[in-house]
Amino acid sequence: MKVLILGGDGYLGWPTAMYLSKKGHDVAVLDNYIKRFWESQAEVEPLTPVNNLNKRIKIWENLTQNKIKLFLGDISENSRFLNNTISDFKPEAIIHYAEQPSAPFSMISQHNCIETQRNNVLGTLNLIFAIQRNNPDIHIIKLGTMGEYGTPNIDIEEGWLKINHNGRSDKVLYPKRPPSFYHLSKVHDSANLEFVCRSWDFRVTDLNQGIVYGIETDETIIDDRLCTSFHYDQYFGTVLNRFIVQAYLGIPLTVYGKGGQTRGMLNIKDTLKCVEIALNNPASKGEFRVFNQFTEQFTVLELAKKVKKACIMIGKEVDIGLYPNPRKELDNHYFNAKHSALVDLGLEPEYLNEDFIIKMINTVSKYSERIDPSIIEPTHFWNNKSAR
Ligand SMILES: NC(=O)c1ccc[n+]([C@@H]2O[C@H](COP(=O)([O-])OP(=O)(O)OC[C@H]3O[C@@H](n4cnc5c(N)ncnc54)[C@H](O)[C@@H]3O)[C@@H](O)[C@H]2O)c1
Repeated sequence: MKVLILGGDGYLGWPTAMYLSKKGHDVAVLDNYIKRFWESQAEVEPLTPVNNLNKRIKIWENLTQNKIKLFLGDISENSRFLNNTISDFKPEAIIHYAEQPSAPFSMISQHNCIETQRNNVLGTLNLIFAIQRNNPDIHIIKLGTMGEYGTPNIDIEEGWLKINHNGRSDKVLYPKRPPSFYHLSKVHDSANLEFVCRSWDFRVTDLNQGIVYGIETDETIIDDRLCTSFHYDQYFGTVLNRFIVQAYLGIPLTVYGKGGQTRGMLNIKDTLKCVEIALNNPASKGEFRVFNQFTEQFTVLELAKKVKKACIMIGKEVDIGLYPNPRKELDNHYFNAKHSALVDLGLEPEYLNEDFIIKMINTVSKYSERIDPSIIEPTHFWNNKSAR
């Protein structure tokens, strides 16, 4: 299949490009390197030294004879560029990762909030119009997040909710209660995409993804120069990825509050499999299809305990630190989210265990000289007093 990956320089975009290219798909990646700019604004760097896309694509081609096409440009500001890319490459499916991906980053200031929503919402709107002009049959596979739902006191369905009200029934988009301006940008995207499915017969799969962990995939390990961008800082590092670097350093794991927050999680290798499943089983014309993309759920404290247990197995001491929660979120809440659709379509999950955690700690040790301990502790609080 001809697949265009928006956000191909990112943590998930680059491994997806290699994975699909190895499977024989005709892959193109698009990016504008804005994440690298946001990193420098936040004064952080990934743990891994990430080559630019030109270099990584050449290395990949030399090693595997698989070609990946590259388009460099901004989808949120340059609608003509996006339009031309789609008209040149003629993709059958577009995987849309190209958004500002961090909730804490979106909560730093008015500027960060607006930058996040501008970039994310306008990028998706430009995509919608570029597809409308070129070929409304293109399947959009859009990355949303489980965080969009918030933590309601009822079961979370896969995108849609059947309701009975005053004797009548209907099916509505599941009511969302997002916890940050970032998550809100994803909710706005979903509303826009659902609208064009209803109005213009688009086909969209919205992947409400849980928190991804992991540093390697079967393709990144072929050569160190193909590694993906891996963060461990308070803004761009996801929870388990942060804990692994903290465990390596032997500093207390940064559990926020009491650690009772329950979240859906998945291995980066499962992200690739899920996206592939969506690609091979496209949404129907006019269908806004939602999959809850996670494989297991843990409380933050359970995760920290797993990391501590893995450390004990290798003779490493690490404490669990309880930090004041910089976020506004429930510490103790109901969480029961359906996530059967991808498994029904054939997903075989990778489950988290101590051996995997030990492997991650070993991988992190390869990059130990690049670790900056000063970017680990949360310094920014999400309450309205600290927002600038
Ligand atoms: N990593 C996770 O745990 C996770 C969980 C749930 C959802 N997601 C979503 O998955 C997607 C990918 O996440 P990631 O962790 O790979 O993020 P990432 O920041 O590493 O990758 C996103 C890429 O998109 C590019 N980009 C952003 N805006 C762009 C624009 N306007 N034009 C062109 N390129 C642009 C960035 O430069 C970056 O390379 C994001 O939408 C994120 O919200 C990620």
